[in-house]
Amino acid sequence: MKIVVVGTGGREHALAWRLARGASVNPVAGVTSTSTSSSSAAHEVVVVPGNAGIARGFRCVEARSVADIVAVCLAEAADLVVVGPESFLDAGLADALDIAGIPCFGPKQAAARLESSKAFMKDVARAAGVPTSDFVVATTVADAEAFFAARTGRGVVIKADGLCAGKGVVVCSSVLEGRRELADMLGSGGTGPRFGEASRAVVVEDLLPGAELSVFALCSDEQAVILGAARDHKRIGDGDTGPNTGGMGAVGPLGAAEGVTDDFLEDVRQRFILPTLRELARRGSPFRGVLFAGLMNDAAGQPSLLEFNVRFGDPETEALLFALDVDLAPVLLACARGEAPGDCRPLGDTKGAVVIIAAPGYPTDPERGAPIVGLMAADAQPDVQVFCAGIAAGSFGFVVDGGRVLAVAGRGASFDEALDRAYAAVDLVHIEGAQVRRDIGASVRRR
Ligand code: GLY
Repeated sequence: MKIVVVGTGGREHALAWRLARGASVNPVAGVTSTSTSSSSAAHEVVVVPGNAGIARGFRCVEARSVADIVAVCLAEAADLVVVGPESFLDAGLADALDIAGIPCFGPKQAAARLESSKAFMKDVARAAGVPTSDFVVATTVADAEAFFAARTGRGVVIKADGLCAGKGVVVCSSVLEGRRELADMLGSGGTGPRFGEASRAVVVEDLLPGAELSVFALCSDEQAVILGAARDHKRIGDGDTGPNTGGMGAVGPLGAAEGVTDDFLEDVRQRFILPTLRELARRGSPFRGVLFAGLMNDAAGQPSLLEFNVRFGDPETEALLFALDVDLAPVLLACARGEAPGDCRPLGDTKGAVVIIAAPGYPTDPERGAPIVGLMAADAQPDVQVFCAGIAAGSFGFVVDGGRVLAVAGRGASFDEALDRAYAAVDLVHIEGAQVRRDIGASVRRR
């Protein structure tokens, strides 16, 4: 199969890496596969546009607009296109590929609204009966007054309706703070909406306590299989301090020790994923792609929906796909064609971890240009893979070219082993002023 992966980051590098391999090609040292099958077919993968680091292992072709990407996919005679970032889906890449007759793993624009409009997502969730926090959609502060009045002494979350590059969600510990944030986001003081069109409408919802996790379902219209669950770390600093980022590290797949049993995942499929797919189909917008459910588990282990994303998580994907010994390509192709997705249960029980090396100044103002030393040495470690994100070719080697620079993944028979391998490899990389969290996976460590 010839597969085009669209995107520029560590997530797309991980997708290309896993898709190219099939299953059981690179068994993990010391981890015994429970399957009797040997290896499955490898596939040819092209990344569009990719980056200088991805180009070490895959052919990368430059194209950044929907029209140019479709032209590349046609020229490559792609059997399958897998879209990484939501921005291309929101811009209608899946619609354009459908017109061109190329199967696309990633939803069309109308279904991608599940991520690009928080108000649409809440409306679909409510109509589908998916457990989620109570909410109101406000275009003026007055719209939320009754909601605030009923919540004195409680926390609320203020979410811009549209895409804001991860900056549109503010958690408020009091209603007072919530009112202030809502006014600021709507720009009711006369300044205009803080995020332009994206915060002309704002979702105000109850703050839910508990432990967050990300569940990934591979969806084909009204059918779905669960790929796995992971946990990421969003804040820049150790102990969950400092501003939010795209994610500074992740661990997965979560298992029974983390409360994520097969029954739990089946419950998420039955009560969160399938009703949402049926509701979208009922509205004439069937969904083909990955549905990423951001969940909050309460103290009793009961999940509630925080948000849906319509793409793989970054960096959750790097941890999951490095660990999961699964032949992804046939499943993604079946989903893209609207056929039964089949089975994507992994061989073995490997755990994965990923640690992000971020540029100085990230997330507000990442500095570009610093040399990256030690990438090859880190990549050469057993059961380690360095997935490349904000990186470019300089005169004497790779240089920093974005906020999240490298996603260093480790895997092993336990999360401890996977994390130790990832951190040992991180310590072989030097970037002046780089930022690395030292507590990734602390909640899943056993020692
Ligand atoms: N890591 C969170 C996300 O991809 O949205």
